[in-house]
Amino acid sequence: MVKQEDFAVEQYMDKYEKYVKYNMGETCCYSLSIDEINELAGGDANDVSSLSQDLLSTRLTYGHITGSPELKNAITNLYQGTGLTSDGIVVTNGAIGANFLSFYGIVDKGDHVVVVDPTYQQLSSVPKMFGGNVDLFELKYEDQYQPDLAKLDKLVTPNTKLVVINNPNNPTGVVWGDDILSQIVDICSKNDTYLLCDEVYRPLYHSVDHSPSSILSFGYEKAISTSSISKAFSLAGLRLGWIATNDSHLVREFLSKRDYNTISISIIDDKLATYALNHYEKILEKNYKLCQENLEVIDKYINESKGLLEWIRPQGGSTCFIKVNKKDIDTYKLACDLAEKEGVLLVPGEVFNHRGYLRVGFGNSKEDLEVGFPILQKYLEQ
Ligand SMILES: Cc1ncc(COP(=O)(O)O)c(C=O)c1O
Repeated sequence: MVKQEDFAVEQYMDKYEKYVKYNMGETCCYSLSIDEINELAGGDANDVSSLSQDLLSTRLTYGHITGSPELKNAITNLYQGTGLTSDGIVVTNGAIGANFLSFYGIVDKGDHVVVVDPTYQQLSSVPKMFGGNVDLFELKYEDQYQPDLAKLDKLVTPNTKLVVINNPNNPTGVVWGDDILSQIVDICSKNDTYLLCDEVYRPLYHSVDHSPSSILSFGYEKAISTSSISKAFSLAGLRLGWIATNDSHLVREFLSKRDYNTISISIIDDKLATYALNHYEKILEKNYKLCQENLEVIDKYINESKGLLEWIRPQGGSTCFIKVNKKDIDTYKLACDLAEKEGVLLVPGEVFNHRGYLRVGFGNSKEDLEVGFPILQKYLEQ
């Protein structure tokens, strides 16, 4: 049997998510109903009824095996200026499916893989599962989670098969700009290394002057973007993601592997996602506002904490990684206590192997933050 590490953050969320009253751990922007997508899209009664008629009368076959042309066009539209065509899209079951399929298609036993840290655990655990030798490329709070590119340059060699980054980053919410991304592309390009950027929080760039480009924008054929409609587009319940790349050989490899574990995604998800992505600017506009407002709320509580809490204020994504300035603090116990005794969900840094930090999601309910932070503050003052 293939050996795997437990997926700490997913197991933690699964344990508490559905039972707490105040969820400060959510990573998705506030999820939408179909009615709400319609409202945002400015849909009138005719649109609503034609969408529901279409859904009700759709024959529930496998649909287009690799995703409908309409869906692939809507996804391609998110990558304008990158040279991507719809032939470079592989539709998957969420970004989690996209990442898994990418590793399945690229990583062999003994391959050297460099993975940014901290990040979503899947990005290091799955390459290990396929026999990869994983080196973590550590980001530091003191550096504002910006990369030490000289260090990366040493870490990546012609023997490195794959470099994995995540922009905007979960858990820190830090965004790397085009200057950094292009230098990372250069490092990969001179070593002929694949470069996967998990862009599941793109284009949620609510607090930057210039939104960075997708990793596909730098003209590097071995670049891969994975993403989904879960986070920035508020539709995690559709379970729809994708791999995007200009490397046609890789696309063939992914599709061939995909035959064994996907066949097709749900035809209903395909239609709803296409509808939503055709109006994505409206969804994004709402979520930018939500994130900006909630960041102000968190900022206020951090200021009031008198130095107990500290952060690198996120520029993108929907999560931040708050540093708890209390000697020897067991943030895992803290988070479990708050979930079990107070009904407040925060994600402890320990599930990212970073004790002393708490991940807070700010794309969700403002009220939950306003109730949760005073409870956290009280706990810390005890
Ligand atoms: C960085 C990152 N990648 C991938 C995923 C998986 O997202 P989904 O499968 O819902 O698209 C998550 C979920 O939290 C994530 O944070």
